[in-house]
Amino acid sequence: MLKVDRIHVRIGGVEILRGVSLDVERGEIVGLVGPNGAGKTTTLKTVMGFHRPERGGVYVDGLDVTRMPPYTRVKYGVSYMPEDLRVFPWLTAEENIRLAVLLSGKMDRYREVLEKIYNVLPEIRRFSDRQGYYLSGGEKRMVALARVLAVEPKYALLDELFEGLAPAIVERLMKALKEIAGEGVGILVAESNVILASKLCTRIYYIERGEIIASGTPQEVLAKITV
Ligand SMILES: Nc1ncnc2c1ncn2[C@@H]1O[C@H](COP(=O)(O)OP(=O)(O)OP(=O)(O)O)[C@@H](O)[C@H]1O
Ligand SMILES: [Mg+2]
Repeated sequence: MLKVDRIHVRIGGVEILRGVSLDVERGEIVGLVGPNGAGKTTTLKTVMGFHRPERGGVYVDGLDVTRMPPYTRVKYGVSYMPEDLRVFPWLTAEENIRLAVLLSGKMDRYREVLEKIYNVLPEIRRFSDRQGYYLSGGEKRMVALARVLAVEPKYALLDELFEGLAPAIVERLMKALKEIAGEGVGILVAESNVILASKLCTRIYYIERGEIIASGTPQEVLAKITV
């Protein structure tokens, strides 16, 4: 289980997260949903180790990783797709993936890892030789998602995966995420659209101004936030 326990995060003197708790089991897709500026990205960054909470902790399968740097958390199975994707423009789609495998120290398993990625995201084969610069928004997101999978994570943190995408590609990515979860990866998605999140997630945490104000099944959360 990936567990976030009552974290408080302060940035530049302002308390951005105020006692955020959540958990994700392997194999489930959990949503962190809330309006712009609510603290979704800050939560994901804190789980990954880019912010240090002043109180509370982050645990991966019972191991306290709160004081560990991001690269150590990757070794323990946590992977992160940032909001701005960071797909390298002058590397091809496949080189972007290869770099992630290289950095995670799994080059001896490269063919196997790549095969696994192409199984869930076969479309990447079509543009594997194209540089990031020339990829469409949807293609870029597939590459960013592939890079998350390249480290063979236990838990994947995905920030606004669906932003700006047409409905057909959103459906396509949702199907891919369900397959990835089916292989035992626990997925936490930050998403501002509660309807989208309801279609994808088994459980949702609703965050507002740095606090979780509702959690439960999509139906439970929708009922709580619309009253
Ligand atoms: N480095 C920073 N310096 C100052 N304020 C910050 C910093 N990072 C985040 N914040 C503030 O923290 C709050 C939460 O930001 P965060 O990016 O976590 O929100 P979000 O829920 O991801 O929003 P969005 O849906 O717009 O991505 C915002 O008010 C933001 O301005
Ligand atoms: Mg954000």
